[in-house]
Amino acid sequence: MNTVTVRIRPEAEKFTAEEEAALRRAGSIIQSGGLVAFPTETVYGLGGDALNRESARKIYAAKGRPSDNPLIVHICRLEDLEKIACRIPEEAFRIAEAFWPGPLTMILHKTALVPPETTGGLDTVAVRFPSDRIAARLIRCSGGFVAAPSANRSGRPSPTCARYVLQDMDGRIDMMIDGGQVGIGLESTILDLTVSPPQILRPGYVTEEMLKKVLQEVDTDVTILGGGDGQAPRAPGMKYRHYAPAGDLTVVEGSPGTVLAYINGQTAAAKQAGERTGILCTVENLGSYRADVVKCVGSRWDDESIARHLFTVLREFDDEGVTKIYAEAFDTAGLGQAIMNRLLKAAGHHIVKV
Ligand code: TXA
Ligand code: MG
Repeated sequence: MNTVTVRIRPEAEKFTAEEEAALRRAGSIIQSGGLVAFPTETVYGLGGDALNRESARKIYAAKGRPSDNPLIVHICRLEDLEKIACRIPEEAFRIAEAFWPGPLTMILHKTALVPPETTGGLDTVAVRFPSDRIAARLIRCSGGFVAAPSANRSGRPSPTCARYVLQDMDGRIDMMIDGGQVGIGLESTILDLTVSPPQILRPGYVTEEMLKKVLQEVDTDVTILGGGDGQAPRAPGMKYRHYAPAGDLTVVEGSPGTVLAYINGQTAAAKQAGERTGILCTVENLGSYRADVVKCVGSRWDDESIARHLFTVLREFDDEGVTKIYAEAFDTAGLGQAIMNRLLKAAGHHIVKV
């Protein structure tokens, strides 16, 4: 299959006639059962018709993803929510009011309109209403319900730009909409509203603190940062090894000075042993590390910058053929919870405390 790439300027206020035509073409590809990758405010998605069971099968095949791992249905109008979800609790409308359109996904009971292939056989459905204007227009042109996992091959870091989508998906999908670099860089927060109190299954840009301003009570799945003693995470996708670079990744936690000394020591030893070494760090320590490849994700005091660069840096280690990687651990307050959740998963929960 030949993957056609179209470029849409992310910053412009209005689509040009050409861009509008490209989005309509993308919409008709999805409506006729094809797959289109597109930008959202979180990461790039791999879109197909959420109401077509064949499209769901094609998404699983293109990603190499186990078919028990359900897809998120993306909508572009609040009134469409009740077509795919039922028995919606009052809290869901409050959450929608506060955070939609935006980087938040709700788990709700599904209606018969959504085929079981889309939800991995579950009787619940994940619903997201993205704020990205390219995503919104594409969903509209596709009939209103687009199933879209992150546009990476299963297990790889989620793509934050078109180049990384094509690295994984070129030749496997019909069209790629290149809308530049995404803004947030980590996937949406997933909140399960079929349980009481509602529970965070995947942390994201919308943090526990933000949700608690709208709901009295919010729980968090204990497995998010590796707790729960081997208990399975409640979002099926969270149980798989994910986001992993090809090199062996270790997260190092401790006071800044000890972490620095430990990482430099381990890296020197790994280099001697013939490894190509990489270090993932914050700008504060950038000049003090020695390795073949030292990558900075931003400032320790700017978690939005760390979120935005994390997946890109993990992919860059692969581009540079790094075989052994050490990463500084991050504070888990606020957005840090999502950052550490992704980093720990990328490391297969291999963390050293020094
Ligand atoms: O930001 C995002 O959410 C991106 C963009 C493209 O919208 N999408 C995304 O999709 O991250 P994906 O498929 O990579 O991750 C979806 C996660 C998986 O962990 C899946 O198991 C979980 O959502 N999920 C989907 N439906 C579910 C359900 N009914 N119950 C529990 N977890 C569900
Ligand atoms: Mg994913």
